[in-house]
Amino acid sequence: MNYRHHFHAGNYADVFKHVLLRLLLAGMRRKEKGFLYLDTHAGRGRYILEAASRLADGRERAPEWPEGIGRLWTAASLPPVLADYVEAVSVWNLRAGSAAGELATYPGSPWIAQELLRPQDRSALCELREDEAEALVAEFQFQSRVSVHTLDGYTALRAMLPPPERRALVLIDPPFENAGEFADIRRGLREARRRFPSGVYAVWYPVTERARSDDFLREWSDAVPGDAPLSPALVAELQVAAEDSPVRMKGCGLLVLNPPWQVEAEIKTVLPALARLLGHDAGAAGRLDWLVPER
Ligand SMILES: C[S@@+](CC[C@H](N)C(=O)[O-])C[C@H]1O[C@@H](n2cnc3c(N)ncnc32)[C@H](O)[C@@H]1O
Repeated sequence: MNYRHHFHAGNYADVFKHVLLRLLLAGMRRKEKGFLYLDTHAGRGRYILEAASRLADGRERAPEWPEGIGRLWTAASLPPVLADYVEAVSVWNLRAGSAAGELATYPGSPWIAQELLRPQDRSALCELREDEAEALVAEFQFQSRVSVHTLDGYTALRAMLPPPERRALVLIDPPFENAGEFADIRRGLREARRRFPSGVYAVWYPVTERARSDDFLREWSDAVPGDAPLSPALVAELQVAAEDSPVRMKGCGLLVLNPPWQVEAEIKTVLPALARLLGHDAGAAGRLDWLVPER
């Protein structure tokens, strides 16, 4: 496990994922009943942006956040959904001790979610790396409805679902360090859906090799004997660079099973703005498709 999210914190993929996560949480909040937010690969919760360019051996590397949150931070105008997200990051920075207008730290998905949870909701955060999990425990020590688990995220899917609330939003955001990650997600998500078919599941994935992510997506539109019946499945993708660009990760996506009502329309509005603001070249584009339509 060499992956350290702080090199990537606030990059275009984080912006895409966190903007959509906020829309999903807003969708969950449209019903009064409380829900569980389960973050299977939570990270450390807070990232110091200055550290994003410093490697353990003292060498420097170009940070990724200037091409992500950095671009939105300095944009002259933003559509409302993105302005709200930047405002949330800004307020969070102020609370973390940054000067007004200063972008010094970036919140991970646990904090992005925490800001939108209500007293009747709760959050379970899983992180396998002990140092990251310790940081997460320190982050949330004063929050009563948050539990942190040093646990494999796929084990958590079995251990924590179905939740007593019978409502959950599950974010699966693995590091994709090895080729087996898509297979692990497939197994974990199948088992989770057998236990709890009505959960809202959001899976982030990179688009480095088109064929691999397409194969993964196809899985969710074909019924498999013994599995839970197919769920409505929405896929949103953001491509930042053309296929022939030297940029390695040319895009990323979010597969959402059982998306809350109205979220599709909101994602549709925000994707073109994300492509315009975060794109590197003329290949930048957003994509939104139902793999399995809503009934
Ligand atoms: C992409 S980062 C998560 C970023 C976070 N969700 C966010 O948006 O701020 C993936 C995290 O998963 C952790 N991790 C790796 N394998 C894991 C596993 N099997 N179970 C839980 N966490 C794992 C890594 O240490 C890393 O912190």
